[in-house]
Amino acid sequence: MTINEIKKGILLAGGNGSRLNPITLGTSKQLLPIYNKPTIYYPLTTLMLGGIQNVLIITTKKDKENYINLLGNGSKWGMKIHYAIQEKPNGIAEAFLIAEDFIEKDKVSLILGDNLFFGQELSNLLIKSFSTNGASIFAYPVNDPSRYGVIEFDKNFKAKSIVEKPKNPKSKYAITGLYTFDNKVIDYCKNLKPSKRGELEITEIQKIYLKNKELNIKVLGRATGWFDTGTFDSLHEA
Ligand code: G1P
Repeated sequence: MTINEIKKGILLAGGNGSRLNPITLGTSKQLLPIYNKPTIYYPLTTLMLGGIQNVLIITTKKDKENYINLLGNGSKWGMKIHYAIQEKPNGIAEAFLIAEDFIEKDKVSLILGDNLFFGQELSNLLIKSFSTNGASIFAYPVNDPSRYGVIEFDKNFKAKSIVEKPKNPKSKYAITGLYTFDNKVIDYCKNLKPSKRGELEITEIQKIYLKNKELNIKVLGRATGWFDTGTFDSLHEA
């Protein structure tokens, strides 16, 4: 990416939100309100504050029009918003295949549309992730790590393993739904096989970067808040 080029981000607002049925039978979970704004405003703002102005929203055929009505082409915020469709909930990593033409040869951040971040620290970390080699991920200590991708550290706090939704988590550090990847991510995703639950898992991509010693992990501090609003309890908490 050249200095003057506008940074790129992907916002994933697909999925069928089955854990939020029956509400999500009629609407997309990223359109549900969190206090006075639709959920998607929050991750979009996170990208914006990280200096990302060029955003591809990946959503479903059924919901695309609603997002266009809500966000348009982004010009009211000085952004460029584009739209693409994920035909089926084939997993987070499929986003990089859908977005191949949008990403071109650049680096890209990806944020999950149901992830809410609060706190000032994150903007700088996100900005920095674009000048860091490889991939950058953000970990956050939680009480219920089994719900997430979990990262295990050794005694020197060096990352040792990554497991998606482990039954017996080896740490309390969840991997949050915000990542920056270099351009190799596209090729890695092309070679990825679906997991047992039939999805292209983002944690499998993180494992490749970890193995190649190209995974930068930042543990978010106490001043930062993180919520994944994919369940009723977490939505209510947010
Ligand atoms: C996804 C990822 C998981 C990550 C989580 C963060 O899980 O697969 O690694 O920790 O998002 O929200 P999902 O909530 O889509 O099941």
